[in-house]
Amino acid sequence: MKVGFIGGGTDSAIGRAHFSAINIDRKYSLDTGVFSIDSLANRGSGEFYGVSKERVYDDIESFLASECNQLDAVIVLTPTPLHFEHINQILDAQLPVISEKALCANSNDAAALADRVAREKRFLSVTFTYTGYPMVREIKRMVGDGILGELLACQVEMPQESFIRATASGGKPVPQEWRQLDYEIPSVTLDLGSHVVNLLEFITGDQIARVSALAHHSGEVSTLIDNVLAIGEMKRGTAISLQWNKVSLGKRNGLACTIHGSKASISWEQENPEYLRFSGKDGAVQILDRSHSMITIASQGRYQRFKVGHPAGYIEAFANLYQDIATDLQSFKSGETLNNPYTHSATNSADGLRVLEALHESAATRSWVEIRR
Ligand SMILES: NC(=O)c1ccc[n+]([C@@H]2O[C@H](COP(=O)([O-])OP(=O)(O)OC[C@H]3O[C@@H](n4cnc5c(N)ncnc54)[C@H](O)[C@@H]3O)[C@@H](O)[C@H]2O)c1
Repeated sequence: MKVGFIGGGTDSAIGRAHFSAINIDRKYSLDTGVFSIDSLANRGSGEFYGVSKERVYDDIESFLASECNQLDAVIVLTPTPLHFEHINQILDAQLPVISEKALCANSNDAAALADRVAREKRFLSVTFTYTGYPMVREIKRMVGDGILGELLACQVEMPQESFIRATASGGKPVPQEWRQLDYEIPSVTLDLGSHVVNLLEFITGDQIARVSALAHHSGEVSTLIDNVLAIGEMKRGTAISLQWNKVSLGKRNGLACTIHGSKASISWEQENPEYLRFSGKDGAVQILDRSHSMITIASQGRYQRFKVGHPAGYIEAFANLYQDIATDLQSFKSGETLNNPYTHSATNSADGLRVLEALHESAATRSWVEIRR
């Protein structure tokens, strides 16, 4: 797939991760882009990514005007509050879109994009990275196959430290400007809550029905909400507890989930992603790696870039998701219906943003809120 980036310069947080991931399985070629609003960084990124000088553009308009007939998709890696405008521009140019999460800064914009994509039969896929981890997909399989039994309780958390940890020189942390503002949905929730909600619904195949939440400010970055906790229920009745924050010293990226079922419990941690902790009714606690006989997804050939004992991680998870998106793009181009269980549509993303809005409505009103879907 011939692709271009909007955003994702080497001056950004996430650009190089996408560049690395799309190159692992040789399914994409990054041919062009407008990588950064800083012209030096824009040119430097083009050079670093191996893009020819004449295909690095200063603005999105000239990029789309010149490249619209030469690309299979555009990858959107700009700050979340700009996604709505940028994705509409790409859709105007008749090109498929792959976008970083959160799809938009609020559910109305995301729903408008989802409506447009459905109405015009267009392609839009959202990169929720963590669902590319083979062991996350293994948990989804185990839940689907009933190995855990009826789901009784699920915990998903994503504690980080970036709004409280001192800089190397002992100063206060200073995130990117766009992360220093709270939008309809607070920045911490767009960044982390979007993953937590997506991961829970991805694994369980169920949807959150109602929530009761708390949202606090306690870190070093202006007055931003930086600490969110919620309890709730899934449509099928499972009790859930969710939390994400940027004020947990010592937690670089503590994304973790535990699913407690009537037959077994299972836990996974993002910083140790090749292992599952499985506890059955007999009292045994087992650590499963991708060579274990109970494992049937993470042991598949597509995930064995090298054999077990040689850890894979975040970039490979991204690459796994990009493989699925490439398959979807191919199906889309051939006019086939998309039914990939591993990819994320605009509709699904808009739904997730509705959950996040409900959660903050609950925190503001100190009441339970039903999710309107
Ligand atoms: N999936 C993940 O794990 C993950 C992690 C980090 C960020 N993200 C998402 O990636 C997106 C970008 O986040 P980031 O942390 O890299 O942001 P960032 O602020 O570090 O980088 C944004 C980049 O976009 C460029 N840019 C801004 N406006 C532009 C424009 N009009 N045209 C072209 N380029 C423009 C900037 O110059 C910069 O290179 C966000 O949506 C964020 O939520 C996802």
